[in-house]
Amino acid sequence: MTDRSLTDPAKPAACFAAHLPARLSVQQPAVAYAPSNIALAKYWGKRDAVLNLPLNSSLSISLADWGSHTRIFPAETAYDEVWLNGVSLPLDSAFASKIICFVDLYRREQTLPLRIETDNTLPTAAGLASSASGFAALTLALDAAFNLKLPKSVLSMLARFGSGSATRSLWHGFVRWDRGEKEDGSDSFARPLMLDWPEFRIAIVPVDTGPKSRSSRDGMNHTVATSPLFKIWPAQAEADCTAVHTALEARDFATLGALSEANALALHATMMAARPALCYLKPQSWRVLEQLWAARAEGHQIYATMDAGANVKLLFLSSEEVFVRRSFANVSVIRPFEWPQSWLGKVGPGGQNWVSKQVL
Ligand code: DP6
Repeated sequence: MTDRSLTDPAKPAACFAAHLPARLSVQQPAVAYAPSNIALAKYWGKRDAVLNLPLNSSLSISLADWGSHTRIFPAETAYDEVWLNGVSLPLDSAFASKIICFVDLYRREQTLPLRIETDNTLPTAAGLASSASGFAALTLALDAAFNLKLPKSVLSMLARFGSGSATRSLWHGFVRWDRGEKEDGSDSFARPLMLDWPEFRIAIVPVDTGPKSRSSRDGMNHTVATSPLFKIWPAQAEADCTAVHTALEARDFATLGALSEANALALHATMMAARPALCYLKPQSWRVLEQLWAARAEGHQIYATMDAGANVKLLFLSSEEVFVRRSFANVSVIRPFEWPQSWLGKVGPGGQNWVSKQVL
């Protein structure tokens, strides 16, 4: 993390100004959808907290129709309105403040009150964080509302200021966020990987569906600041990201699964070594892992990944779907390459036949 950036709040403003017209107007009410995502090679640690630049590259799979719908209208009053799942939120609530701070990066000095409505389709029981899909959907909706028509790479870079994992939620399928090298962060954005894997499955095993005890951002910063094990993380995480990418291209599921699981456990090891220790995993998370390892010893190709929360996500191919549904209690299975017909029909870059990967 560079200390200088912490004392230089003008840096995000410069980043937005480089891509926006001097004055904005709401051309039309806008609607956007973005899927949530789960990292197979995790982002953990920032090299610049103000520009939200990661120490390492990461790679994720998007969660199809599990995500956020966002609608933006001009506000009918002089104030912003923020709605979440049909409920109007106080503007000083944590959720509304984060949304308004992000929108202010676009508005700068301009007075332009907006009504922003977000509906999450992530089942609450899954206990998944929605900041990735939420900020990605907000970025897409703002682009449409202000009629900006910015390239997706720029939208990914702007979404980064809301949440790092949001950079990867602008596309369906597998997505890689390159850490970038530049100090201004202009090369730190995500890109979709042009590879489909229709048999790929993810199952969420719910362990704790309540709100997180500590946000990923806080947990990440605490780990970077105090964990002696964190020193080895950035280089290992970068190597894992490259290896996961290679295994994906080779459609080598066993290597991909083993790498993803090892990467997630290494991430949790850095947290547990923090001082004081940080442990998002609960006894039930470990029981699910034990069950999974026993199944694997019997030949089932199933692997696990866990984020800053207690829930366990299983990775497997369609041939294991019946076994997973039968063996793990209350699982939700996601098929990341199957989505409703209504999502089809957008043209991909270069005219490739990957129309279905575009986020509407
Ligand atoms: C463990 O993207 O929530 O899910 O950039 O501070 O908002 P901020 O962090 P966030 O962190 C995600 C951490 C993770 C791993 C990942 O998604 O890559």
